[in-house]
Amino acid sequence: MLFGKRKNASAEPPEVPAGLCNLHCHILFGVDDGAKTEEQMYELIKTEYSFGVRYLCFTPHYNPALFEPDPEGIRSAFELAKSYVATNYADMRLFLGNEVFMRPDTLDRLRDGSCKPLGDSRTVLTEFHPSTSYDEMRRYTVGLIGQGYTPLFAHIERYDKLDDIDDIYELKSLGVKLQINTAAFESSRRKLISRLVEQGAIDVISDDRHNRTRGDPPISECYAYVCEHFGEHAAHALFIHRPMGILNISP
Ligand SMILES: [Fe+2]
Repeated sequence: MLFGKRKNASAEPPEVPAGLCNLHCHILFGVDDGAKTEEQMYELIKTEYSFGVRYLCFTPHYNPALFEPDPEGIRSAFELAKSYVATNYADMRLFLGNEVFMRPDTLDRLRDGSCKPLGDSRTVLTEFHPSTSYDEMRRYTVGLIGQGYTPLFAHIERYDKLDDIDDIYELKSLGVKLQINTAAFESSRRKLISRLVEQGAIDVISDDRHNRTRGDPPISECYAYVCEHFGEHAAHALFIHRPMGILNISP
């Protein structure tokens, strides 16, 4: 089992409900460093469904320094995914957005539609370079919020400069939402992450799935881990209620 030993090995393992909402993944094929082929995309959708995910938001990287933006490729892969899901998993809903890497021109790119918030929301899955300073993150935050967007910081366990809990709460007071990956509980920053989860400061847990080999821990196992260590109420909030709230959807 991932995430180490169970807290209480003799108790029944927590039941994972079908209805999880995964807001961050790279399953659309051929558009970034995620799935490479149509078949891989279908395989990963099947995997997410088997984990209990029923609301899945594709978030291809928008980072022109690393990946050539390909709006047409994204659109056509999304249409194929929708038709596959309609045929095979009628109770699954798909959404589209980007994981937007912050650069000086990002606001312009959001405004001209080159990159997109999550689904029909105004929430932007916001990625920083790992070396980005707190002040810089704060500057981008103020810019995004000033334009009516809500930043959802992606995988905050990766940002070493975000190590002061007061800084984190200042960002939250400005309106920032925080996402962690399922891998965060196995990262070197797991103590800080656990504290933030305990305090209710994390908004969303997603698996940031790229492919079958990268080893992103399954979202269902992470749900069970959170249930055991932080309670069912927290798991429900982090994997269902808050991510669905971000997409402005209800079951
Ligand atoms: Fe990602």
